[in-house]
Amino acid sequence: MPTIFPKIKKITVHSHAHSYPVYIGHKTVLENMSSVLKPLQLSTHFIVVTSSVISDLYWKKIKMCFPSSVNLERILISDREKDKNLNTVQKIIGNLLALKAHRKSCLVALGGGVIGDITGFVASIYMRGMDFITIPTTLLSQVDSAIGGKCGVNLKEGKNLIGSFYPPKAVFSDISFLKTLPQKHYRSGLAEVIKYALIDCPQLWQLLQKHPSEILKRDPTFLEKIIPLSVQTKKKFIEKDERDFSKRQILNFGHTLGHALEAHDKYRRLTHGEAIAQGMYYATQLSLQKNICRPEAAGQIQGLLKKYGFQKQALPKNISSYIARDKKGDHKNISWVLIEDIGRVQRRPIPLKAF
Ligand SMILES: NC(=O)c1ccc[n+]([C@@H]2O[C@H](COP(=O)([O-])OP(=O)(O)OC[C@H]3O[C@@H](n4cnc5c(N)ncnc54)[C@H](O)[C@@H]3O)[C@@H](O)[C@H]2O)c1
Ligand SMILES: [Zn+2]
Repeated sequence: MPTIFPKIKKITVHSHAHSYPVYIGHKTVLENMSSVLKPLQLSTHFIVVTSSVISDLYWKKIKMCFPSSVNLERILISDREKDKNLNTVQKIIGNLLALKAHRKSCLVALGGGVIGDITGFVASIYMRGMDFITIPTTLLSQVDSAIGGKCGVNLKEGKNLIGSFYPPKAVFSDISFLKTLPQKHYRSGLAEVIKYALIDCPQLWQLLQKHPSEILKRDPTFLEKIIPLSVQTKKKFIEKDERDFSKRQILNFGHTLGHALEAHDKYRRLTHGEAIAQGMYYATQLSLQKNICRPEAAGQIQGLLKKYGFQKQALPKNISSYIARDKKGDHKNISWVLIEDIGRVQRRPIPLKAF
């Protein structure tokens, strides 16, 4: 992993549209943002899309991170999941028109996955496409949603039903943002980190096993290790299958049941991470039932989930009707990602009537 500035890691992600750098560091990414931005030659007009919560915490700081020569403006939106919809898209576009944004202006997503998904989508459609960069402020967005180019919004019929593949020009992940993140949302991101360890990253597995108290306390020394390892793992899958037709679906470990639980909950109480933690428990149990996974490995996986505070819950009675809506299946089968051993998974279609 090459470094550009002291203590900033740079990971380059290759996509069909273009390659983009992901900068990761503790305080250093924000401190050096201005110098990193200049050679990218993006725009002289940046428009930050963020929420009032994040703006109250970070707007002053963000203003100092951009070169003083650029015109920096701000649009405030709600970052609640229920507002990740076309009304918010229209609101942002109205604001962009009022700010006289043009195709060479650059959007900046400052926030978690909700802000990132909406902003990327607007960037992909405003005047047929403009540049955008992201400054992810949650663990989940730093390890997952800011990487990979998927963006979009929800319809009342379902989640992420409208969207595009539209990668950012750069991702600026500063670990210092995580200090103010509520613990529920921090643990949500940790569930995705656990997923990466289980599907393909023995180094992450070791760190998670050996240092739960440091990681749960957000020790920057460990975050500086687990965030890049997570990004590297995601990069490996998305570069092989950007459009999510085959290999990328491995990243869905825990998500078949996880998405069903979120929909059953109407996206109100459960975080995404809490839902996929249950999904990982269940996918492990299913792997055992199908004689794919050794009992000792299953025990270790369940032990790790418990270490990070994810307790196994009973499934709601009518959950199978929600599983049946899975976008990755066909009419007869649901495509599950099952686990063979720690670090080794497989995709397997299982008949819907089995649930
Ligand atoms: N595009 C993708 O590939 C992808 C992948 C995974 C998830 N997602 C999407 O991401 C969204 C979830 O994102 P998320 O988990 O980042 O949560 P989020 O964006 O909903 O943010 C969670 C909460 O934390 C607050 N917050 C954010 N950063 C903060 C900070 N630094 N300090 C204090 N508070 C802060 C927000 O205001 C919000 O209330 C979902 O909509 C999901 O569909 C997208
Ligand atoms: Zn996820």
